[in-house]
Amino acid sequence: MSDGFSYELHATDGKARTGVIRTPRGDIRTPAFMPVGTAGTVKAMMPESVRETGADILLGNTYHLMLRPGAERVARLGGLHRFMNWDRPILTDSGGFQVMSLSDLRKLTEEGVTFRSHVDGSKHHLSPETSMEIQRLLGSDIVMCFDECPALPATEEQVAASMRMSMRWAQRSRDAFGDRPGHALFGIQQGGVTPALREESARALTEIGFDGYAIGGLAVGEGQEAMFGVLDYAPGMLPVDKPRYLMGVGKPADIVGAVARGVDMMDCVLPSRSGRTGQAFTRRGVVNIKNARHADDARPLDEACTCPACRSYSRAYLHHVFRAGEMISGMLLTWHNLHYFQQIMAGMRAAIAEGRFADWQADFDRGQAQGDI
Ligand code: GUN
Ligand code: ZN
Repeated sequence: MSDGFSYELHATDGKARTGVIRTPRGDIRTPAFMPVGTAGTVKAMMPESVRETGADILLGNTYHLMLRPGAERVARLGGLHRFMNWDRPILTDSGGFQVMSLSDLRKLTEEGVTFRSHVDGSKHHLSPETSMEIQRLLGSDIVMCFDECPALPATEEQVAASMRMSMRWAQRSRDAFGDRPGHALFGIQQGGVTPALREESARALTEIGFDGYAIGGLAVGEGQEAMFGVLDYAPGMLPVDKPRYLMGVGKPADIVGAVARGVDMMDCVLPSRSGRTGQAFTRRGVVNIKNARHADDARPLDEACTCPACRSYSRAYLHHVFRAGEMISGMLLTWHNLHYFQQIMAGMRAAIAEGRFADWQADFDRGQAQGDI
């Protein structure tokens, strides 16, 4: 455990857990949802507004920031926190996952991956060693191991070979990270949907020893049922005294189901991306603000929501600015969505602490099933 970084488990209810991750830049209340600030901004939001929604930590991306504006430049300008005006914790993903989904002309070897930038076609290299160096230059508080997430569909042999390489990369990441008081390094479990491979991966990571453990290789198109199938056993393979982070998840129902199965942290672009495409997440499921039925509706999106979009604007206005392509549309809906996601997290934390998580979950499910009013 790095000095200045620790995890306290406060209560469990079934498999659900609540606690706090302490860092020199502030506490992270768990279960935690991390808004995605890929390129040094949570799109359409000022950082102080992101904080107002209740976020304790943001996610940034090695891949995007190394290409533009460059990690050395961010370091010269005082690090990512100062650069983007967010002084609380930042977790950075390590780059490999984004290379696979975004870059051109990739070449993957045991050493690392060479690829061309999706921005300008320039050639770059990432390895466990360079990823650790870039995340250090950015000033990341929670650094992720460099891993490979195999593209689906893949055979069990391919998933096994990829997982074993990721475990060798985890050891190289650990060695390259070194000892950095106040900064944490998380390992990433792989192994697809095969319990024996998930177990092998968990053992390899636990033997190396990390400050936290992520569950990777999920939410890549396998569907909720298969994902929950893995989450029924994968969190239990990871150390009970360290935070568990499910990468890239998800819809509200995915998040609630993951917490019910023992996950402590999550991140997803969904609330911010959907906000820009006119989708609002609410207690009563998804509302498409572009739908004509909102055009004359003077009511707020959700009368029980205390976000600025719901406090001061009608559905008719949100519908109008979306249709007109006005920037405030993405701003208001992103704010609402991030606020709603953080309300879910706060509701779960309180329910777990008070031993009424099952009731809270039943209530959540009822609301989502009811549909928009
Ligand atoms: N984001 C979503 N899934 C993954 C994964 O498996 N690995 C990494 N590094 N990032 C992810
Ligand atoms: Zn709202």
